[in-house]
Amino acid sequence: MFRFVLTIVFLFTGFAVGHAGDIKKGEDIAIEHCRRCHVIPGQNNMGIGISPSFKAMIQSKANDWRHKFEVFYALRPHPSFVIIREFRTTPEFPLGITPVIIAVDDLDHLMAYVDKLARDLRQ
Ligand code: HEC
Repeated sequence: MFRFVLTIVFLFTGFAVGHAGDIKKGEDIAIEHCRRCHVIPGQNNMGIGISPSFKAMIQSKANDWRHKFEVFYALRPHPSFVIIREFRTTPEFPLGITPVIIAVDDLDHLMAYVDKLARDLRQ
């Protein structure tokens, strides 16, 4: 019986941990998908056109910068090329660029990474 209870406890804690964002996975996603356009601290020195750097956004005085990262896929220009796998949202219009295809969980990983960048940048 005790073993059974222990197994259940492990299953649940495993479940909870599995849903927290993973900083390393978030970094990999940012490198693979966001670095194409955005400058990311320690990763590249040049972005594309008007794409704001992650540093500038994180250090912005606007207090909604974190929220913007949480919903970046809904903010222009991203809806044209970001596809959340589980929802298969079709891009607004076809663009001649490679789409960013990520999973819902990747959003948690990205936020864990962005929060880490924010901590590092404030030091
Ligand atoms: C194909 C280029 C491209 C890619 C890839 C891209 N972005 Fe962007 N992003 C932009 C541009 C351009 C803007 C500026 C939009 C504006 O100022 O109107 C932007 C703006 C943003 C903003 C601020 C939005 C706002 O309204 O202030 C966030 C947050 C952001 N991007 C996050 C990300 C993340 C996270 C990724 C990777 C998963 C990513 N972007 C991938 C081009 C890109």
